[in-house]
Amino acid sequence: MKLGLVLFATVAALVAAVHGASPCGPVLLPDLNKAFPAGASKTYCDKGGEGAPVSECATNRDAVIGIDAGIKAYKVTRRGEVVASIAWMLFESGGWKYNINHTPGTIGQGTRCMMMWEFISEYAQSLFPDEYKKLMGASAAKPETATDAVKTSVIKLVLTNNISFSAAFWFLVNKAPTYHNNNAKLRDGNLEDFKEYVTKGIVTTWTAEREKLWNDVNKAIVFS
Ligand SMILES: *[C@@H]1O[C@H](CO)[C@@H](O)[C@H](O)[C@H]1NC(C)=O
Repeated sequence: MKLGLVLFATVAALVAAVHGASPCGPVLLPDLNKAFPAGASKTYCDKGGEGAPVSECATNRDAVIGIDAGIKAYKVTRRGEVVASIAWMLFESGGWKYNINHTPGTIGQGTRCMMMWEFISEYAQSLFPDEYKKLMGASAAKPETATDAVKTSVIKLVLTNNISFSAAFWFLVNKAPTYHNNNAKLRDGNLEDFKEYVTKGIVTTWTAEREKLWNDVNKAIVFS
């Protein structure tokens, strides 16, 4: 009897340990709908963002597919990293309504996390090296010298749904690696960790809206 109990406890602990280490996800549509109810509506994209074509808008149904693609492609397994990435994208894309920068209209800035040209250039090169080389021409060696026309053509490589929604995960893993798979960073459910990632990892300004979106996502997203 006693041995049975000990065995039971051991097995339970083992199951919990394995479960904790397993990759999390996918993010489920009903959870994303809870986090961002507006994007759940089928008619959400009938109207686009101000100054942006309707075609740039995505519903939660599109978003969840792209988010899943990003999680898989960059092997992100910690809930804190996923919640941070979704909250970041929700903010930057104006609730999935923007895929490139419209205000003030910075050429070469885009994806759902609105990366600047310097990162767009690297991201596009990592995924489409041949097309990148062709489009960049002489500026491939010095991306900062690319003309507006070149930037506009290169960014199109990374604006399709899956790739645009994966950019936040690419950035985390490749451009802010301190925050990836680090048990002292982006801890699950930790707002202060997210704030640090925003200001020191992404290197952008902290706002009350970012906090609200992170809270909404953090409350709603459950991993199986
Ligand atoms: C997008 O990603 C999903 C999930 O990883 C995948 O099943 C789907 O085939 C991808 N779609 C495209 C167009 O690449």
